[in-house]
Amino acid sequence: MNIQEVLDDITATLRPELGQAGKVADYIPALARVPAEQFGIAVRTAKGQEYASGDCDVPFSIQSISKLFSLTLAMRAMGDDLWKRIGREPSGNPFNSLVQLEREEGVPRNPFINAGALAVADRLVTCGDGLDDILAFLSSLSGDAIGIDEEVAESEAATGFRNAALANFMKSFDKLDNDVAAVLHVYFRQCAIVMNCRQLARAATYLARDGVHPRQKTAVLSDRQARRVNALMLTCGTYDAAGEFAFRVGLPCKSGVGGGIVAVLPDKLSLCVWSPALDESGNSVLGMRALELFVANTGMSVF
Ligand code: DON
Repeated sequence: MNIQEVLDDITATLRPELGQAGKVADYIPALARVPAEQFGIAVRTAKGQEYASGDCDVPFSIQSISKLFSLTLAMRAMGDDLWKRIGREPSGNPFNSLVQLEREEGVPRNPFINAGALAVADRLVTCGDGLDDILAFLSSLSGDAIGIDEEVAESEAATGFRNAALANFMKSFDKLDNDVAAVLHVYFRQCAIVMNCRQLARAATYLARDGVHPRQKTAVLSDRQARRVNALMLTCGTYDAAGEFAFRVGLPCKSGVGGGIVAVLPDKLSLCVWSPALDESGNSVLGMRALELFVANTGMSVF
């Protein structure tokens, strides 16, 4: 199969639909300014071949995709102890919901809703350098120096009242070890990390290689841990649309409100699609369409 042709076909098919459906995230000005008429896609195989098409080199705000990598670091640092304070069930609620957290006494449903990512950030502050560890990890995985969009980071902090509420709520249940401000600092800045499709496809390849680093022989995660991250992506990676993603795409995915989606086909490849206009759950409209087309045109799926 010619993967490059598949990607070019998808880009050509979706080009007439650019900017037609969905809405660019507008909760902060730096994201609202991103033109909707963009689409990129990149694949890296478990063996190291890379293919890309469209706006695959355009940097974008990775937002919640960062939760995949912060979770990986926390699993490395803490092993199974991590699950004492974070669940593994789909939430069925919007990613920033407060209601469930009250009922469940400060233990977030899963590591990919905002409350769960805040609990993970708390662990990273306890175990290491927090944000610096995430940036160093992404730079090592992608082979490029990865940084932050300072304007997005400042806006996240200036408008992140709901995240502050979630963190304070968890603190009130004694479920955060560190100061709320230190935890929020890591979370706001990890959401403002900037990468492109090629870099993200490369960074996620350890999940298609039983936990082995994309370009080295070292283990990022154990085989078992990598399988668990993929399971969490499938069940929780696209928030309250995880069922729809499993039904329509059938790959473990992690999305972000910058319009990126990272997907994994275990033992075969990782891919990243990006298009900034979002549906009501906060997932990229054309990103999801592209993943559906990729699966339909290649026959590749976990099912
Ligand atoms: O926490 C927030 O509000 C943003 N940084 C959104 C993170 C995100 O991408 C959620 N989902 N798709």
